Amino acid sequence: GRRGHAWARGQRHPYAALPGPAMVPEPLLCHMPRGGLSRCWVSPPAGYHRQFGKIFRMKLGSFDCVHIGSPCLLEALYRKESAHPQRLEIKPWKAYRDYRGEGYGLLILEGQDWQRIRSAFQKKLMKPTEIVKLDTTVNEVLMDFMHRIDELCNHNGEIEDIYSEFNKWSFESTCLVLYGKRFGLLQQEVGEESLNFIKAVKTMMGTFGMMMVTPVALHKNLNTKIWQAHTKAWDSIFKTAKCSIDNRLEKYSANPSEDFLCDIYFGSELSKKELYASITEFQIAGVETTANSLLWALYNISRYPHVQHKLFQEIQSAVSANESPNAEDLKKMPYLKACLKESMRITPSVPFTTRTLDKEIVLGDYVLPEGTVLMLNSHALGSNEEYFSDWTTFKPERWLEKNIINPFAHIPFGIGKRMCIGRRLAELQLHLALCWLVRKYQIVATDNKPVEALHSGILIPSRKLPIAFQRR
Ligand code: HEM
Repeated sequence: GRRGHAWARGQRHPYAALPGPAMVPEPLLCHMPRGGLSRCWVSPPAGYHRQFGKIFRMKLGSFDCVHIGSPCLLEALYRKESAHPQRLEIKPWKAYRDYRGEGYGLLILEGQDWQRIRSAFQKKLMKPTEIVKLDTTVNEVLMDFMHRIDELCNHNGEIEDIYSEFNKWSFESTCLVLYGKRFGLLQQEVGEESLNFIKAVKTMMGTFGMMMVTPVALHKNLNTKIWQAHTKAWDSIFKTAKCSIDNRLEKYSANPSEDFLCDIYFGSELSKKELYASITEFQIAGVETTANSLLWALYNISRYPHVQHKLFQEIQSAVSANESPNAEDLKKMPYLKACLKESMRITPSVPFTTRTLDKEIVLGDYVLPEGTVLMLNSHALGSNEEYFSDWTTFKPERWLEKNIINPFAHIPFGIGKRMCIGRRLAELQLHLALCWLVRKYQIVATDNKPVEALHSGILIPSRKLPIAFQRR
């Protein structure tokens, strides 16, 4: 038949024929470095892609996945995408929600429910004309952050715990957008409720990885320490989130269209439970990723003073000295946007995403059955000489040359219907933050030794970033 014919031409290969490294046996998995599985998923692929090609299979114990490492295969995947694409399940999060009777948000929803909730938020969150309206909100927090940096810098312009300080900025900024409320994280004395909130998010994130690699049902039934800590952390997160969301809904219930969140809620058929879960997940997905992206961008420009100089000039010519940069000004700053893109190419905060196939597809001549887990690795793509010539060099100019870069070679926010819904908000925050920071400070490198990027779900610097802030 047709299939046989295709076979004869060598057009279709079965799953079992996929190339790839020898399987990593289960016992070895117990000796994994910090960062657990995610480290093994991501670190080797760039090298493996060179060895095995654009598509290969990797087995870690019972976890079996297929790595996709070329723009053309990603484009093919995008064209064949089903109506409700899925990522790898985050079972520990689902287990908590089921346990407490809470809802699911976009990170863990599937099928029709995912679709319904995605459209409810997409209308606002992905619409450029809606996002630009948030510039004043974002600037409000950035102004405080500028003062805060002055306070935190020592005489050399260095900040002691820069990673957590930037996380506080991002937390404060994201919460103001989501809950319409200041948490006071940029003040010298941070209130207890806010500190607990931050701590809870940290604990929750620090405890779910383990339950991704060992069955969560086991943890729950044995009531392990990890399960207890995880549950307690989620309880605290939901408590704060619900309370803040309820306040906001009440405040604007007379005029919902005036408020970002109320407009979404009253204009759609979301239940309260779905709203709570969705907003909470936005926060989980948005805070560290945004802070981390900003830090990497500052690090990258600190190593390339001529880039920073050009960026500074662009900012100076687009925004008058004593005014806040706004969304309108950003339109006049292509170089700024290119700097962020370039930073996300070399050091993407989220180095990969996943897809679980809900139907059989053919990709790169291989038949991939339903249930196959695909790894889409933006870090590997961004560090591939074939798609980015001179890839180790931070060169924002490459984004300003017309028609050279394949859009499927740059996927820091994912791809297709399930791509990051916070992308535009994140970009607004990052663009404005870069404007404020570079306008006020020269970002200098305090040493020139390399900084490695470690994979721990998100891409984190291997050591304290060697940067300092010098007032211009
Ligand atoms: C620089 C910052 C950020 C980066 C690098 C980032 C990256 C990503 C990536 C790679 C995905 C997976 C997409 C896919 O599977 O195709 C994702 C999903 C998601 N992100 Fe972001 N993100 C960022 C900021 C945010 C913010 C600020 C929010 C919240 C407003 C957010 C909310 C989400 C949600 C809800 C999803 C799941 C979407 C769905 O499955 O429908 N992200 N993000």
